[in-house]
Parts: sequence; structure tokens; C-alpha cells
Amino acid sequence: MTSVSADRLGLGPINLPALADLPIFTPEPDVLDRHSIVGFDSRDSRTRPFNLLRTQVAKRIASRKASVVGITSATPNAGKSFLSLNLAAALSRVAEQSVYLIDLDLRRASIAVELGMSPEAGISDFLDGSTDDLGKLGWRIEDSSLAIFPTRAISGNSAELLAGDRFVQMINAFRKITGNAIILCDMPPAFANDDTMIAMQKLDGYVMVVDSGNTTRKQVQDTMVMLQPASCLGAVLNRYNGGIMESYGYGYGSKTYDAYY
Ligand SMILES: Nc1ncnc2c1ncn2[C@@H]1O[C@H](COP(=O)(O)OP(=O)(O)OP(=O)(O)O)[C@@H](O)[C@H]1O
Ligand SMILES: [Mg+2]
Repeated sequence: MTSVSADRLGLGPINLPALADLPIFTPEPDVLDRHSIVGFDSRDSRTRPFNLLRTQVAKRIASRKASVVGITSATPNAGKSFLSLNLAAALSRVAEQSVYLIDLDLRRASIAVELGMSPEAGISDFLDGSTDDLGKLGWRIEDSSLAIFPTRAISGNSAELLAGDRFVQMINAFRKITGNAIILCDMPPAFANDDTMIAMQKLDGYVMVVDSGNTTRKQVQDTMVMLQPASCLGAVLNRYNGGIMESYGYGYGSKTYDAYY
């Protein structure tokens, strides 16, 4: 267990236990199925696009020396949370490092629901000062090297929370305790409010989810400009049919994660 001193900011020491010391959470298979979370099951052929994606993402994370990576999109409903969960699960099956998934979509929190968790407190409770104990906010998924830090949805001051000192302290605590872990952050859509723009400045880069047929080239370009100087590690084309993967039989139902470029 490590404590990160935050005296300079007048915060108490932040408690963030090692992954092995987090409480265990076991997702119900039918809940995972209902939310199309297939990344935990290597025998499920639908996990193959995520296996390819995880290799690309892991390579880029390593070459950029990034550790804290946001998953965002221009507009809502592009598949960010779906990708975050499946990518985190797929990474955790092979990565030598631990994988952490943090829900930073403070207003439309969805990671807990998609895994069937009902947390009494979450990241927003750390950010608003209700607790200094991050150890009470995270779970290790059973038999995996994946830790989940969900949030509870809040209605008001999310941008203020993400702009605050406690957010910086929290990200620093994750960087320190987890060594060379991969930390994925499920973000809000970039155009929804300024949450993503604010939070991204403290992260090491982002993956952009592009909703095939819905997201326009201009929206992608505008998002990248808006998020500067944060660096884009790559983009994923979601719900794309007829792409290269399909010809190799990697289709994911009628909706596919088909490209990473
Ligand atoms: N490729 C896909 N295959 C199957 N289901 C998908 C796919 N992409 C997204 N979905 C489903 O579409 C819905 C919206 O996806 P998701 O919640 O991940 O989007 P989001 O970008 O996180 O939305 P928000 O902007 O509200 O946070 C979810 O029910 C998700 O399971
Ligand atoms: Mg989402």
C-alpha cells in the first residue's frame, strides 16, 4: 500500500492500494452479455477485433511512453464505454502490466452499470472531497489484472472537479502506485461540455472513437484541435461494415470495430 503525500495542497495522504489488495468483483456472465462485453472471454470469437486492437494500443502506449490514456469521441453514443471495457478486458488477458479502467464520464457514468456494479461511492466522491481513500472506490475483476474505478453520476460541477487539484493528485497517485500499468479513462464526448478538454490536459494522450456513418471528418478534426496539445494515439472506427477485418472473418455482428489507424 502506498500513500502519496498531498500536504502541499492541504489534502490528506491519498490511499491507493496495489491491485492485488483491492476487493474482488465478479461480473455476472449475463450482464456482460447484455452489454456486449466480450473482451474477458478469449474463447469468444467476438473478442478477436479487441485482441488486434489491444496490440496496436499497447504498442503505441509503449512507444509514446504513455500510461494514462483517455477514450473519447466527438459526439455521444459513439461506443467509448463499450470500447473502454472491451479493450481493458482484452489488454488484461495478455498485458504483463496491470490495467486500470477509470470512469471519468462523471455526468453519464456507465462503467458500473455495464459491469453490474452498484458502488456506494466512486471517483466523483474522491474529487469532491467526500473521501481521500481511493482504495474504497476500486475493484479487481476476479482472476484478472484489471482494476475498475467506477463513478457515480453527478449532475452539476463536473468540469470544476476535473479542473481541481484533487484530480491532479488522483492521476499522480495512479501513476505512482501502478508503476508501468496501463490506465484507460472512459471520457465524455469532447463536444458535450468542457470536461474532456479539461481532463485531457493531465493525461498522456487519447484514443478517438469514430462512429462510422455518424461522425464526420470535420468533427474528428475539430475534436483534435480542441484537445491540443494532448496527443491522439490513434482512432477506432466503430460500427463499420465491409472493412479489412470482415474479409478475415473478424466481424463483430452487424456492428464492428474494424480499424485502428
Ligand atoms: N460495435 C458495437 N457492437 C455492439 N454494440 C455496440 C457497439 N458499439 C456500441 N455499442 C452499444 O451502443 C451503445 C452505446 O455505446 P456506448 O455507451 O459505449 O457509447 P458512448 O460513446 O460511451 O456513449 P456516451 O457518449 O453516452 O458515453 C451501448 O449499448 C453499447 O453496448
Ligand atoms: Mg460512455
